[in-house]
Amino acid sequence: MDWGMKNRMAQLIQADGHCLFLPVDHGYFQGPTRKLEEPGKTIEPLLPYADALFITRGVLRSSVDPGNTKPIILRVSGGTSMVGKDLANEGITTSMEEAIRLNVAAVGLSIFVGTDYEHESLLNLSKLVDEGEKYGIPVMAVTAVGRELEKRDARFLALSSRIAAELGARVVKTYWCQDFEKVVRGCPVPVVMAGGPRVDTELEVFEFVYDGMQKGAIGVNLGRNVWQNDFPVAMIKAIRVIIHQDASPKEAQELYESMKNEEAR
Ligand code: 5RP
Repeated sequence: MDWGMKNRMAQLIQADGHCLFLPVDHGYFQGPTRKLEEPGKTIEPLLPYADALFITRGVLRSSVDPGNTKPIILRVSGGTSMVGKDLANEGITTSMEEAIRLNVAAVGLSIFVGTDYEHESLLNLSKLVDEGEKYGIPVMAVTAVGRELEKRDARFLALSSRIAAELGARVVKTYWCQDFEKVVRGCPVPVVMAGGPRVDTELEVFEFVYDGMQKGAIGVNLGRNVWQNDFPVAMIKAIRVIIHQDASPKEAQELYESMKNEEAR
């Protein structure tokens, strides 16, 4: 690896080999989704506890102070919306020159395996990797599943994650699932877990994050289950101790409860 690529990977993956990425990119197809209506306000209190932000250029420029931020993973795919015809029909929305101008640590793009747009999205990934490698910028591939919950199984996620790695992604973002070790085993590059839509209890989040870490994930790229929580700072701190201090779900829950009371004051 060239120095620039190594340096960017080191900005993202911390000295313990783990990472907590905070995605706030959802507006690129969901619009002003709940609790991300004013992204700057959502991001600010969470920033100290994130290792990197996953974000679009528009929200980065408008809502993040360039003098006080964390490494940036720039979301560079899009072109569809939740009310449009097909969420999978994404293109590359942001050039590599723009990513360089924004001094990003990585770029991120979704792939849509098993959809009508599988071919296009995989070629998008390949093109982005070609460009990124030229300039030492890692690509994080996002294995999208859309609304199809049944796709969140080890067979499908292992297939998508492996294809992303084969095409040159330096990091793969996928979902936690039962038998998650099968996904990690089949993917020769680091794997991070997304959270998906908000789940009912905090403990469920702590449990899947813990399980995924035990099974080889290097961390998370987890958004809604943090910033849609009523106590987002307590939530991110609790997830952080699982990622970086090997805390158990029970310990994370205890920390959440104590931080929650503090945040409520
Ligand atoms: C949505 C994304 C998100 O970055 C990813 O899904 C993680 O967020 P969440 O934990 O809310 O699912 O790719 O565009």
